[in-house]
Amino acid sequence: MSGSAAQGVSTPAKLSVIPQHVAIIMDGNGRWAQQRGLPRLAGHRAGTENVRRILRACVEYGVKILTLYAFSTENWSRPREEVEGLLALLSQVIDRELDELRRNGVQLRHLGTLEGLPDNLQRRIREAIAATAAGDRIIVNVALNYGGRREIVEAVQRMMKDGLTADQVTEQALASYLYTAGLPDPDLIIRTAGEMRLSNFLIWQAAYAEFYSTPTYWPDFGPEELYQALVAYGQRVRKFGGLPPSGASQSQ
Ligand code: FPP
Repeated sequence: MSGSAAQGVSTPAKLSVIPQHVAIIMDGNGRWAQQRGLPRLAGHRAGTENVRRILRACVEYGVKILTLYAFSTENWSRPREEVEGLLALLSQVIDRELDELRRNGVQLRHLGTLEGLPDNLQRRIREAIAATAAGDRIIVNVALNYGGRREIVEAVQRMMKDGLTADQVTEQALASYLYTAGLPDPDLIIRTAGEMRLSNFLIWQAAYAEFYSTPTYWPDFGPEELYQALVAYGQRVRKFGGLPPSGASQSQ
């Protein structure tokens, strides 16, 4: 992801509001491949290439945290060949991109559990997290072997092991035991390929996120459409359960 706007992100008109944290459910790789008569893995490969473009665009637009749903705890039920191919692909991506990510100030984090992943992938993830820990341009959370319900269950288990009393179990305390501890909740969740559900992604953190769904398959979701999503976000009135700020339209 070397560099600047010159590498493919056309610099659009300035956005008035930039979400600090954008999370993406990258759906539609399989259908993208199928449409072209290609194996599903070719869709995942194209999806991987798109991660580079979108990451570069996020840096360009000033997004500070990008969370990507790469592999859910439910994805293990896919055919073995696809699961193995996808995990091998993720391993290769780390190998190939790590230096450049580090040089460009990207801080990689992992959301999920490493347990159950192939040993070499676990090792690479640990190395990538350590190697990019000082990155200060953008935090990229990769949700890999991630499930939102499991995240909450694990948080509660750890709270109990730590001996918290019932009174100490507050929203704030629970949030501090999630994989996303210390990070702000997502402001905007984007889902590609047309579905309108969270699919067990950040179910706690999504409480007040704005949702943007597009029929575009993930490999085709480029910086221009990301820009459209950010424009749409800027037009939403966020109320967090309260009343709209004075001057904002009630109908939005
Ligand atoms: C959904 O498409 C996509 C996935 C399950 C995996 C996404 C993984 C990547 C894009 C790899 C790169 C990730 C990183 C972080 C480098 P699908 O297979 O569900 O598509 P379908 O719904 O059309 O079948």
